[in-house]
This record gives sequence, structure tokens and C-alpha cells, in this order.
Amino acid sequence: MELNKLTVNPRAEKLNLEVERLANRLVRSKDDWLGRLHLGGRAAQYDDVHYEFIGGAADALRKKHYDKSLRLLWKGEAALPWSSFRDCNEYERELMDLAEKNLSDEERAVRARITSAEFKAQLDREYTLEQKRAIVAILSAIGHGEAYAWLVSASLLPEVKSTGAKAALTMQILEEAKHFVVMRELMQAFGVEIPRQSVWEYLLLEGALKAKGLDKFFGMNVLVESIALSIFGLLSNMPGLEVLRLFHLDESRHTALPANYFKEFPLSRWQRRSPIARMRRLKMALPALPLIMLLESELAVLGIDAFDFAGSVMRKVTHLSARAGFLQPEEAAAQTKLFNQAFNAYCRATRPSHRYKNFMESETTTGEAELAVERDAFALS
Ligand SMILES: [Fe+2]
Ligand SMILES: [Fe+2]
Repeated sequence: MELNKLTVNPRAEKLNLEVERLANRLVRSKDDWLGRLHLGGRAAQYDDVHYEFIGGAADALRKKHYDKSLRLLWKGEAALPWSSFRDCNEYERELMDLAEKNLSDEERAVRARITSAEFKAQLDREYTLEQKRAIVAILSAIGHGEAYAWLVSASLLPEVKSTGAKAALTMQILEEAKHFVVMRELMQAFGVEIPRQSVWEYLLLEGALKAKGLDKFFGMNVLVESIALSIFGLLSNMPGLEVLRLFHLDESRHTALPANYFKEFPLSRWQRRSPIARMRRLKMALPALPLIMLLESELAVLGIDAFDFAGSVMRKVTHLSARAGFLQPEEAAAQTKLFNQAFNAYCRATRPSHRYKNFMESETTTGEAELAVERDAFALS
């Protein structure tokens, strides 16, 4: 390529290089020592010599989470055409128009130009006021959870090692942001008051946000996301709530992140087995039980037994905990038994005709596609 090279002063060039080398040695050795003495040092866990984050490339994590998230990326505008979201690009809008041409007139009328008012009218046709209140109460538990999921995943970003894991987590941050803002519009469309967090949600979510280091993976990706996944799996086949299938798909990917991460960067034996760490995690999980009990009447309005739901959630939490190494298999079996006994004891005390049931075998996720996603996410691989 023909470029007109300029001349530079060779002495200035040499001097600049030498000053940089000297300053580099001073700055880096100072930060090195401060780091070794745990007094600070370099803030970024970044290895500029190898052009990689500390921990290396971890391409497997990048492919499983970052690449997959981008492949499955969905937009609010396409999923909820009645909403205020305008996040589709021209190409996606063209695709939507093309897809619309292949719909029957009736389908097009439902899907194409449904306005916010029409969507609200559809909800009013489908549900009684009591049912709308119950759906919003259940959804709000996870709506507030999405706010925390956004914060927790962002706060985990500096904690995970490798370029692949940071890329994976960055997609989770983006997806949680989308879940929060899309969920708000969906719930507002129901036109009923959106409840505040119950104290159990407050404790559960504050616990996950305040957890130290990789314990956040337990609090958020295992515990809170299993509850979220289960709520989306429960409601995604109800009229007007079809968008929850997309949430469900994202959350299943998020629940798989800890196990995939620990395959590359295993927890130390102390992190896994220390009684203090196990107590901390148990304390984080405890508010989930009264939370589910508190939702008993709302779930009942929709014809769902809270303990079938609790069993379905806790089975998934226990499975993911064991897979990520937070629980030993024998502890997982003991925990499953204990939960089931507690659920049955509560039901014996509150339901006159209760007969023993193994709630831990219940499955409240509906829909073939959702069950297939969960089989995939929970398969031991
Ligand atoms: Fe989410
Ligand atoms: Fe999530």
C-alpha cells in the first residue's frame, strides 16, 4: 500500500521507549507487590501479555453460553408486538412481515397488530380478576428476582476467571436486564396492583447479592434461577403468557452455568465441603420454603398445589447443587427426604384429608418444549 511515511526524531523515539519501559517496570512491580501483600494492586484480573483474562480463553464456556445466547437472542418487539419495545432491526422486521404473510387471516389478526389495549382486553376475556391477581402475585416474585439477577450477575463479572466465562456472564447480564424490563410491561398489562417483595423474597435475594464470591453462583444461578425456571415452566402455556417460554429457555442456560464453570475451574475441597460454607448456603436457601408456602393461595387459584410446585423446584435445586459440587450425593438424598417430610408434615397440619405424597417427584412444568429444555438442562453431562 502506498503511504507517505513521515520522519520522526530518532532520539525522541528512543527516549519515549525507554521512559515507557522504566515506568512499566515500576508500576507493574509496585502492583505486583501490593497484590502479593493483599493491599490492592492491579484491579483488573486481566493478562495483557497474553491478550486474555486471567484463567485463559475457556472457549468451551464461551461456545456453550455466549455463542448460544446470541443464537437464541430474542427481542421484546417480536415477542410482544403490543409492547413499547422497538428493539428489532430492519432485517428482523422484514422477517416478521414475511412470517405474517404466511399466517392465516385469523392468526394474523391475533398476532400482527395487536395493540396494548387489545392485549389487555384479551387478558380480561381470559381471566377473572382473582386469577389476574394470582398470576401477577406469582410473577412478581420472579419479577423482583429479575432485578436482583441483573445486579448479581453484574457483580459476579469480576469474580469469574477466563475470557469465556466473562463472555458467558456478560450475556446473562444482558438477558437479565431484558427479563426485568420486559416482565414489567407484561405485568403492568394485567392492570392490577403489583405487590412488593415479600420478606422471604427480600431475604432470599439480598442473601444472593451479598454472598461472597462464587457462592453467588449458588444463590442466584442454582437457587433463584431454579425457582424462576419453575415459575416460567408453570405459566408459559397460559393465554397471553407465551413469552415466558423464551424466559424459560434463557433461565435453563443460566442454571447450567455454575456446573459448566466448575468443570473448567473446580471449587476447592474446602469451598465444597467446609461446614461454614454449607451453613451459609443452607441459610441462603431457607427463605425459599416460606416463600412457596406464602404463594399457596395464589397457586391454588390457578389449580396448582403449592407443594407439588415446591417439590418440583426443590428437586431441581438439589440436583443442580449436587451437579455443581455444592452438595455431596448422599447429602442431596438426605435433603430431598427432609424436604418431603417437612412438606407432608405441613400438609397434615393444614389439610384435613391429606395423605402422604412424595412431592419431590412432582413435575409442575407444562408443555412438551419446556420439558425437553429442562431434560436437556438437567441431564448429567
Ligand atoms: Fe432472568
Ligand atoms: Fe437468569
